[in-house]
Amino acid sequence: MSAANGSAYVFGRHEPASHVVIHVSDPHFLAGGARLGGRYDVEENFARTLEAIRTVHPHPAAIVVTGDLADLGEPDAYRRLRAAVEPVAAALGAPIVWVAGNHDERPALRAGLLDLEPTEEPVTGVWDLDGLRIIALDSTVPGWHHGDLDAEQLSWLADVLAEPAPHGTLLALHHPPIPSHLPLFDILELRHQDELADVIRGSDVRGILAGHLHYSSHGTFAGVPVSVASATCYTMNVARPSAEVNGMDAAQSFQLVHVYPDTITHTVVPVTEAATGDYFSEEWLERMAKLTPEGRLDAFSRKPGR
Ligand SMILES: [Fe+2]
Ligand SMILES: [Fe+2]
Repeated sequence: MSAANGSAYVFGRHEPASHVVIHVSDPHFLAGGARLGGRYDVEENFARTLEAIRTVHPHPAAIVVTGDLADLGEPDAYRRLRAAVEPVAAALGAPIVWVAGNHDERPALRAGLLDLEPTEEPVTGVWDLDGLRIIALDSTVPGWHHGDLDAEQLSWLADVLAEPAPHGTLLALHHPPIPSHLPLFDILELRHQDELADVIRGSDVRGILAGHLHYSSHGTFAGVPVSVASATCYTMNVARPSAEVNGMDAAQSFQLVHVYPDTITHTVVPVTEAATGDYFSEEWLERMAKLTPEGRLDAFSRKPGR
């Protein structure tokens, strides 16, 4: 039994997750490593995120990056992003699922990250991760910042979904099909959501991963849970009144997606440095594993003096 990250210990009702997926969003890289808006050091912030990804879980099934990979769609930005992510993905043995966002330019993304012809074709893909399927959709509209899905892409999606996957499907797209309470994101929302819902209903889609909002958010769409990962570049200070929400260089995070047979959890991982306790350890887990379930309850659940 490998217990390098503690995940192989089962003390509760659920077996360990069958798959762990890293969900990162909105790196917004710029050519030459420039600061975004002259202010945000997006490469440094992303490097800290990658360091956390490297540390938190050694064996994710995939790294999904849900769009706005580059801020202005510059070829050098994609080169730099690729150079940053690929060594980490290789070390983890995880494929990278690149998803296009409204700040991306399809031709440069296709050429720079996917070694494809630099065309305006949507950036889509299907991955089979030991029975878990990930489908990348392209919700971008060339020349615009709002989102949309045309009939061609929806019918492609319906064709792919016609055959279910053993562990079901995670759908990844940039524009989340859930509301935002911020007026600026309403203008840029995804269009043709009813048509997307028609395709998803009755399929094996178990979760939708999105970005774009620069803050973590969760909802449901056509009965399917939607999880929006915040950004790695800068985040929205949603503590402010909705009309005054603006960016801040803090609270960057990514998400751990744990896929179980009967549910999927999305865990927000703050990218931060803070003094951390050392009460729980591999050795502590081993001690717990040697106890009976009743012994564990007695050792860890019982309140002292009661
Ligand atoms: Fe973004
Ligand atoms: Fe976006």
